[in-house]
Amino acid sequence: MMTYPELKGKVAIVTGASLGIGSAIATALGEQGCTVAVNYRKHADEAESLTASIVKAGGKAKAYQCDVGDPAQVQAMVEAVQKDFGALDILVNNAGINRDGVSWKMTDEQWSSVLNTNLHGCFHFIRAVGPVFRTQKSGKIVNMTSINGMRGKFGQSNYAASKAGIIGLTKAIARELGRSNVNVNAVAPGLIETAMIAAMPDEAKAQSLSETVLDRLGTPDEVASVVLFLCSDGARHVTGEVIKVDGGQYI
Ligand SMILES: NC(=O)c1ccc[n+]([C@@H]2O[C@H](COP(=O)([O-])OP(=O)(O)OC[C@H]3O[C@@H](n4cnc5c(N)ncnc54)[C@H](OP(=O)(O)O)[C@@H]3O)[C@@H](O)[C@H]2O)c1
Repeated sequence: MMTYPELKGKVAIVTGASLGIGSAIATALGEQGCTVAVNYRKHADEAESLTASIVKAGGKAKAYQCDVGDPAQVQAMVEAVQKDFGALDILVNNAGINRDGVSWKMTDEQWSSVLNTNLHGCFHFIRAVGPVFRTQKSGKIVNMTSINGMRGKFGQSNYAASKAGIIGLTKAIARELGRSNVNVNAVAPGLIETAMIAAMPDEAKAQSLSETVLDRLGTPDEVASVVLFLCSDGARHVTGEVIKVDGGQYI
């Protein structure tokens, strides 16, 4: 992993950090010397053990249970992080779920739970940190979208709509917060080996693998390294951008 000395001492919220990509992002930010607010909803043990490992490595971290889909919980978490650490510099909106099914069989619950967690959750956090970043005239926001929000995918109308929404949201917020010196970008992974894809049928995984020009699936670390770059000074003139991390799966 590259080293970014300017990240030392920054306070970062990572949503959905108990597992997979979020856990790798929180670890990577911790390694750079950031104080990490580890958000989770269900996996308390994983969030606590991640927090302990960041602290053991010499960093600062605390776990916060909060459902990103609940605006009141999100507001309370953002206030708690500021109270606990006295600052807030980076928001990584990573929490996400999928509830796949063809549109003609999709239930209201499948549709709204995915939209509420993936898209509304992102918005709730952006709205909560906006006043802080505007006042201090600095901040970094990185939103986790997906190549399936760019190209659509059979059986993922809810997920693709939520991830396409995140791209529009990213661009609108980049415009709104640009004059406050806030960079707002999105990362679009292809298939990455995490719990989210563990339930995928083998043929679907093989199909995705056959689409990648690098001929392999990605790892959470490979997504985290791009998130780090977007939070660094090296990306200070990058905003409103969507960077794919997909091994060429969607070219
Ligand atoms: N894996 C891939 O191939 C892939 C590809 C493209 C994009 N992505 C995106 O990358 C992000 C991370 O995916 P992943 O593969 O790492 O997924 P994962 O292993 O299933 O982890 C999802 C994380 O989101 C958290 N989460 C879910 N609902 C939440 C809620 N309502 N409030 C707070 N936290 C919540 C989970 O926490 P708890 O379990 O503790 O509730 C968990 O930490 C997602 O946005 C996903 O859409 C993944």
